[in-house]
Amino acid sequence: MSASAPASAPSPSDILARKGGTPLVCLTAYTTPIASLVDPHCDIVLVGDSVGMVLHGMPSTLGVTMQMMEMHGQAVARGLNRALMVIDMPFGSYEESPEQAFRNAARLMAKTGAGAVKLEGGVAMAETIRFLTRRSIPVMAHVGLTPQAINTLGGYKVQGRGEDRARVLEDARAVEQAGAFCVVLEKVPAGLADEITAAVSIPTIGIGASVGCDGQILVVDDMLGLFTAFKPKFAKRYATLGDDADHAIAAYADDVRTRAFPTPAHVFADVVEPAK
Ligand code: KIV
Repeated sequence: MSASAPASAPSPSDILARKGGTPLVCLTAYTTPIASLVDPHCDIVLVGDSVGMVLHGMPSTLGVTMQMMEMHGQAVARGLNRALMVIDMPFGSYEESPEQAFRNAARLMAKTGAGAVKLEGGVAMAETIRFLTRRSIPVMAHVGLTPQAINTLGGYKVQGRGEDRARVLEDARAVEQAGAFCVVLEKVPAGLADEITAAVSIPTIGIGASVGCDGQILVVDDMLGLFTAFKPKFAKRYATLGDDADHAIAAYADDVRTRAFPTPAHVFADVVEPAK
């Protein structure tokens, strides 16, 4: 099945042109109902590979597959009318060669209607980003903490502290030079995020970075309080829907056990009543 991007969605060039302007609002989504809720408020909706941890209970994003991204991408596309849809390339779908990356990025875009892909990595992925952008695939880059690399980074640590600062700055410059239209900065010190934002000509999208970034992104289930397995420091909770759901389900269970539900309003009479 193929899908198409909303006709009125901002293009990656529109997003690029927002550098230094009103901050870009970005959230993740993985399903149609949540996509419909976030769409009116967002510039970019990311079908993140965080779907593996948030919806599928995986311990990391490493087990996410192309098939999962395609299915969730198609679901999100059905809920969008105005935001730019960006889709994550899962671990193992792009690192081998620029050609592998092109094949899988083109497949994700064709099958879901996403207007751009996101992939993780800086200097090491610059050649791949250049290859994709020169072949009509817009790329959102992602540097700093790159969760697909937890096994080499040694966990979900802040990146770019002390002597590591130059590496993260170099990564951001490399993806800018390679043609990315924006770059996610994840879990980097605020001062470094500000320095990168001043140094590159593309919008920086912060997550655990700085209020000075050109935009912000959060995992939607974190900010709605739906994902409660753990709460990263950078994830501000704007609602407690997980708690609300727990209370609602407990009330339902109680009603069932005490025969308070269903009431006559929820059941059907033997005789069809005449329509009024
Ligand atoms: O997968 C994801 O949700 C992400 C965002 C946190 C940037 O990469």
